[in-house]
Amino acid sequence: NSDPMIELKRMAAEEAAAMVQDGMAVGLGSGSTSAMMIDALGRRWAEGLRFVAIPTSEHSAEQARAHGITLVTFATHPQLDMAIDGADEVERGSLNLVKGLGGALFREKIVASAAKRFIIVVDESKLVDHLGSRVAVPVEVTSFGWESTARQLGELGARVSQRMDRNGGLFVTDGGNMILDCAFGPIADPPQLAADIRAIVGVIESGLFIRRTSEVIVAGRSGLTRLVA
Ligand code: A5P
Repeated sequence: NSDPMIELKRMAAEEAAAMVQDGMAVGLGSGSTSAMMIDALGRRWAEGLRFVAIPTSEHSAEQARAHGITLVTFATHPQLDMAIDGADEVERGSLNLVKGLGGALFREKIVASAAKRFIIVVDESKLVDHLGSRVAVPVEVTSFGWESTARQLGELGARVSQRMDRNGGLFVTDGGNMILDCAFGPIADPPQLAADIRAIVGVIESGLFIRRTSEVIVAGRSGLTRLVA
């Protein structure tokens, strides 16, 4: 592909993959940027780099396996050296995130919280002054009583819609749950909102990632920039 932005994103993904060192335990994100990063790790694996990985989705697991990358579980690796993932929005000042447009937010958050360093790769279109400006906040909920959970999310100020899959059926997460997309508009206080969402019974996790990011690698028209928390 000759789209210069895709090339820049690939460079950013490669820069993140270059941070992985021999012997590390690494969390592998989900989405198109993470897919580029996993391919870059696959090339390094072919050159002899050895590490173990925990994927955040079945899709990323399959991709890593195709490269021959060794996958492990939390049973043997309860702590990871690093996790690398994409994001749907990055708040410039705080580096707080919205994630989960791909539906893998719960596993992504578990993997992020297990990692000593959490590295995010995005293109500059994902940078915002206020989270919620461009995307709805995905919230993973149990299907039992979801209508009640949705009503309570609405009371927090969101327009709530059920995530559907490509075939028009209800989207089901890798964990067997539903996703409610909650459009809040620009969020004044993301840490408070994340806490309020969590307090609702039936909510498993929200796509608000607060104070988790160590570093963001941004692909922009003028090159790569690194934002450090
Ligand atoms: C997956 O659930 C998301 O959190 C992804 O990290 C996010 O959608 C980024 O995807 P792209 O790299 O495809 O934009």
